[in-house]
Amino acid sequence: MARRKQFEKPLHGDKESLRFATPEPIARYRAQRLRCKVLADISCGIGGQTVFFAQQCEFVYAVEIDPKKIEYAKQNCAMYGLDNVKFICGDALDPKVIEQIPAVDVIFSDPFRPAEESERHVSSLEPGIPNVLAAYGEKTRNFAFEAPPQMPPERIPFDCEKEYISLDGQLNRLTLYLGGLKQYDRMAVALPAGEGLVSKYGLPQVKETDKMKLNAYEPEPSVVAAGLLPELVESMVQMAGPLMGGFELFRVDKKRLLLTSDALIKQSMIKNHYLVLKVCPFEPKEINKFLKGKNIGSVVLRAGVKPEKYWEVRNEVEKGLEGNKTVHLFVKDGTAILCEVIFND
Ligand SMILES: C[S@@+](CC[C@H](N)C(=O)[O-])C[C@H]1O[C@@H](n2cnc3c(N)ncnc32)[C@H](O)[C@@H]1O
Repeated sequence: MARRKQFEKPLHGDKESLRFATPEPIARYRAQRLRCKVLADISCGIGGQTVFFAQQCEFVYAVEIDPKKIEYAKQNCAMYGLDNVKFICGDALDPKVIEQIPAVDVIFSDPFRPAEESERHVSSLEPGIPNVLAAYGEKTRNFAFEAPPQMPPERIPFDCEKEYISLDGQLNRLTLYLGGLKQYDRMAVALPAGEGLVSKYGLPQVKETDKMKLNAYEPEPSVVAAGLLPELVESMVQMAGPLMGGFELFRVDKKRLLLTSDALIKQSMIKNHYLVLKVCPFEPKEINKFLKGKNIGSVVLRAGVKPEKYWEVRNEVEKGLEGNKTVHLFVKDGTAILCEVIFND
């Protein structure tokens, strides 16, 4: 089976492995960050990440416990014309495997994780991070691990940089950098643009508000996951200048938050910039009346509406709209916030 969606060249692999393979923009980004002479990818799966390591590094060791997957990894490297990879089939924690790997610059592991868990924990990763650190501690002091991005920084029990990555506006990956690879406490990256934001010490928490101002800003999910709202707001305040100042946090519901300000700026770690059109009771018919004649064609419902009600509500608010602008409709405690997307490039 070959997958086209995320890769320039369709990767070979079984359905499950293709699902867990690193999306190409992330694999390319990570390979650049971990670029070195010799790297070992010790749970390589079908090689979705290995291929890009091999493009950036002089030599790569690729270890995989599942013989079928390592065959796919070989096919995938061959498809990219790469001959600088040594494949080792076996348990990465088995001394017979460890002894085949010399001193390297970087050890990378994207471990197996259960498909579903009520709460993500590093302890359910295989091979386990502490075991890998103990087994490979004499080969290098530079380790990078992939971990589930649903884990907040405070649930990661290692001294490491936590790098949250969003891809096309969705939270997608978390990479932990240990030892010599740690540069910051936390980082947020937005791909494919390649923008980033890093943690600082001592910034105040962002002030919360229940009042929407003229503009609303939806941060990249990687910024929220990394706990970098203070850093984001600091950079926005610098852009707006002291007179326009104030950016406040408006919590829409448990899952959604916006920043709001009278200042209008464009920031690369903002996923959507909005002009706030109206704040009013959440009454679909009235909202539809308001939107008519304003060149608006679609309304994206950003509210906790039951899935079976979604299209009923959306059809009602979009009835007869024929324009080409898009409005996002947020709902907080029965109040609708109608936001027009701007800077949509
Ligand atoms: C999430 S997948 C890796 C995906 C890969 N990075 C990619 O982009 O295609 C994790 C892999 O770790 C392998 N694995 C689990 N435990 C292992 C161990 N002890 N030694 C080697 N590989 C292991 C699994 O078989 C699985 O293929």
